[in-house]
Amino acid sequence: MTNRYAVVLAAGKGTRMKSKLYKVLHPVMGRPMVQHVVDQLKKLQLENITTVVGFGAEMVQDQLGSDSKFVVQENQLGTGHAVMQAEEFLLNKTGTTIVVCGDTPLLTHETIEAMLNHHEMEEAKATILTVKAPDPTGYGRVIRNTKGDVEKIVEHKDANQSELEVDEINSGTYCFDNKLLFETLKKVSNNNSQGEYYLPDVIEILKQANEKVSAYQSPNFEETIGVNDRIALSQAEKIMKKRINENHMKNGVTIIDPDHTYIGPDVKIKPDAVIHPGSIINGATKIGSDTVIGPNTEINNCEIGSETVVKQSVANDSYIGDRVQIGPFAHIRPLASIGDDVKIGNFVEIKKAKIDQNSKVSHLSYIGDAEVGTGVNIGCGTITVNYDGTNKHLTRIEDDAFIGCNSNLIAPVTVGKGAYVAAGSTINKDVPNDALSIARARQTNKEDYVKKINHTNKDQ
Ligand code: UD1
Ligand code: CA
Repeated sequence: MTNRYAVVLAAGKGTRMKSKLYKVLHPVMGRPMVQHVVDQLKKLQLENITTVVGFGAEMVQDQLGSDSKFVVQENQLGTGHAVMQAEEFLLNKTGTTIVVCGDTPLLTHETIEAMLNHHEMEEAKATILTVKAPDPTGYGRVIRNTKGDVEKIVEHKDANQSELEVDEINSGTYCFDNKLLFETLKKVSNNNSQGEYYLPDVIEILKQANEKVSAYQSPNFEETIGVNDRIALSQAEKIMKKRINENHMKNGVTIIDPDHTYIGPDVKIKPDAVIHPGSIINGATKIGSDTVIGPNTEINNCEIGSETVVKQSVANDSYIGDRVQIGPFAHIRPLASIGDDVKIGNFVEIKKAKIDQNSKVSHLSYIGDAEVGTGVNIGCGTITVNYDGTNKHLTRIEDDAFIGCNSNLIAPVTVGKGAYVAAGSTINKDVPNDALSIARARQTNKEDYVKKINHTNKDQ
């Protein structure tokens, strides 16, 4: 097999985005565009991937890390000039070089592979991935001769009226004979409306030198969308969302309203889970079978077991077991670990706390920096007072303890196994196993007090 290389063009500022964030780092379904592109390239067998970076280079390098080698294009003089910067890693190498733009996040490895196969079968020196666009505005047009062979690509800004009417566009993805690519790039001029060295000009130069140039027309326009502005970004987001949701549905997940369900590319969901509208599920989240998420729930980086229900709630960086009930309106903050059959009810916040099986925190409580055993019942309005203004301290509530409503547990403190804390207590000393602790002012009833006051008032 011939050696294959890839060059990712990612040095453009992306002026049309009107953003301080470098264009190719704008996320689509939570993952930067350029990462989507490189992830697809990684599925092909390539000798190396070189990303051309410019303004904001470090951020792109940090994002891609060891997935790519990098070259810097100091001044953005055009896509042809950008590819030339990759000489360092590619000059004189034999094989095929794939060039992809960092702003085409929807492109799949299957399509790149199909283009490569076509290129090799045709024994072409250059192949362009083209597509018929419903609205070709802004794209380079593929100009063919009367025999139907590709002659050249004309940029929208340089096109005449008849060229503008062509609806077959250059997707910005190509493969080239590597040596010929770098030889030809030297012949590209910047004599055009934008004063740039255009990569697509290589096609016309090769054609005129009687080299074989080919086009692989993809049937799928959506895949080739180039994101130049926020409108295209939202279109890409929509298509990627649909693609991800349909994959989950094919795998047996019920998504009640896919238009209003946002699932990140790394999320894994088992069959028979049900996702209700308004759910946003991101990061490396895993969801078990028969679990019900939503409506209006945000989950990031959580592992959630089977037959669990999470309603109208937010959960981040946490573990949630099987048959757990969460919400409505609960906030599960990072490093919570919630065991099987636990109930976390409305207006409860859990942070960095382990709550073991069968325990209940049903309403209006804050449990932070805590270890809660099994079968514990935490009454409404309980607070682990974990912060003394300088440090955070641990609260331990052991198995089968019962915490009465509206209690403050001032950490560090332990409530022993099976112990009871009376409602309204402020506990700042450990409670032994099986004890009842009452820590509140004793109630005093002043008999007929109100009548006496009323009587005095009348006398005045
Ligand atoms: C480019 C193509 C156009 C094609 C379209 C497909 C050229 C001249 N035009 O147009 O035919 O239809 O893509 O989406 O190639 N970049 C650099 N350095 C530069 C300039 C650009 O690295 O000096 C990078 C950008 O970061 C971007 C990619 O190259 O990822 C394409 O550049 P962009 O300015 O978006 O080109 P388009 O106008 O979209
Ligand atoms: Ca573009």
